[in-house]
Amino acid sequence: MNDDTNTTKRISVSDIKARKGGRPLACLTAYSKPMAQWLDPHMDLLLVGDSLAMVIYGLETTRGVSLDAMINHGAAVIRGSVRACVIVDLPHGTYEDSPEQALASASRVMAETGAQGVKLEGGVDMADTIRLLTENDIPVLGHIGLLPQKAESRGGFKIQGKDDEGWKQVVDDANAVVGSGAFAIVIEGTVEALAREITETISVPTIGIGASPACDGQILVTEDALGLFSDFTPKFVKRYAELGGEVENAAKAYAEDVQERRFPELAHCFGVPKEQ
Ligand code: KIV
Repeated sequence: MNDDTNTTKRISVSDIKARKGGRPLACLTAYSKPMAQWLDPHMDLLLVGDSLAMVIYGLETTRGVSLDAMINHGAAVIRGSVRACVIVDLPHGTYEDSPEQALASASRVMAETGAQGVKLEGGVDMADTIRLLTENDIPVLGHIGLLPQKAESRGGFKIQGKDDEGWKQVVDDANAVVGSGAFAIVIEGTVEALAREITETISVPTIGIGASPACDGQILVTEDALGLFSDFTPKFVKRYAELGGEVENAAKAYAEDVQERRFPELAHCFGVPKEQ
């Protein structure tokens, strides 16, 4: 846990951009202050992802989360971190209507959380939006390939770039996002060679999830990596711990202690004479 609030310099979006082709960027999602505190010393970037709709709130898709909720979680992650670059997702329904709508939403995120930038899903269709945000000094992390917010309308969570047309679309999206001023791009759920080719040809870092080891960085949903979210585990996830089982064991031990009157002990109570 990083308590070094006064001396640590936070990683900026320029630092992230400068890592193109260098030491790979280690990125995870974070939704809360305590989790941010544990992850911060080791991460280059913490993403307050709209995946929290599913992971925290138990919704079916990432679509059901409000801008206010993202701002609350974003502010919590900023309070729990001193080092990592923190980026907050613009949730579904808060940026797609017009560049002006996106600017209003992103401006609130920046002002009310203190995050270093926002992420939004889309490529060619979002180019004007990304340009308006970056012209207004709001750093944008792009997100191309499989787009969870649009998965429902595109027939489900499908790997992108399997045919020539799909491949070209993702390449066009990457070029549009970079051309509009994004400082980096998340590439999600594509065939490996496509993410590799994009990484080799664009000028900003790519951050892969279900993409390629060649990407300039990698990101996972933290609860997936820690075994805390077990509704389903996508193929691209590597489990680094099984904390769900640990939590259940601790809950069982606590319940047994309470039921058997082993907890609390007098040591946990107030106003108890010392000799007891
Ligand atoms: O919402 C999210 O957590 C994301 C990552 C999976 C990239 O967009």
